[in-house]
Amino acid sequence: MSETKEWFEDWFSSPYYDLLYAHRDDSEAELFIDNFLSKFSFQPGSKFWDLACGKGRHARYLANKGFQVIGTDLSEPFIQHAQQHQHKDLTFIRQDMREDPPGTDFDCVLNLFTAFGYFKDREEDLKVLRQVHKSLKSGGRFILDYLNPSFIIRQMVPSENFSRHNLGIEIQRRIESNRIIKEIHIQEGDKIHQYLESVQCLYPQDFKNLFQACELEIHEVWGDYKCRPFSEESSPRQIWVCSKSM
Ligand SMILES: C[S@@+](CC[C@H](N)C(=O)[O-])C[C@H]1O[C@@H](n2cnc3c(N)ncnc32)[C@H](O)[C@@H]1O
Repeated sequence: MSETKEWFEDWFSSPYYDLLYAHRDDSEAELFIDNFLSKFSFQPGSKFWDLACGKGRHARYLANKGFQVIGTDLSEPFIQHAQQHQHKDLTFIRQDMREDPPGTDFDCVLNLFTAFGYFKDREEDLKVLRQVHKSLKSGGRFILDYLNPSFIIRQMVPSENFSRHNLGIEIQRRIESNRIIKEIHIQEGDKIHQYLESVQCLYPQDFKNLFQACELEIHEVWGDYKCRPFSEESSPRQIWVCSKSM
């Protein structure tokens, strides 16, 4: 891994990411979008921003449902992949989440599957949420889907070894400085590639403080992709439903 790059610039542009996260697929995205849409009544043509969209699995499905969707992500390979599916109601742009939003009249902004909590400085997290606030119409919704650290830490497997597609994979997990650290070693022939994931342990009170600081009003918290109520003890996810005040 290059010294100057942040871990998230490296890992999400690596050819091995899909190897570990193959189960985070279109059907998981579609299940969540169907459950989420059943809770709201967005008009046809409503504008969505998928912030840190990856390869665009949620954005594509939303556009198929008749919404206007923009997906943004920092990873060049992810955005190039997503752009193959562009059409008049679906656009993908390469952009850092701390930069100005791609519009200021979104009905809904989505930030899904732990695409937050990467930075070292709280001010950077606030920058992202301020961009979200700026991008929304008044009354517009913001959905942020994050891991539930209490649940994850209890279930954490410190070390794992397995092989996939002729590659040897070793994963080490630990908690350090209030972050969940995952070290990934991939052996391909006689070469070992090393990557890192490092996300903050953000607990419900942390999110409450962050949203309050950015004038995002909390409505609900779900605990999984079926949008069932959040329990800090047993939910795998914390999915925050917020809005920009009218
Ligand atoms: C865990 S993936 C989730 C992707 C997508 N939301 C999904 O559910 O498939 C996190 C995403 O955040 C993107 N990302 C990381 N740092 C970013 C940054 N500073 N600005 C924008 N996107 C970033 C990564 O490139 C990656 O696509």
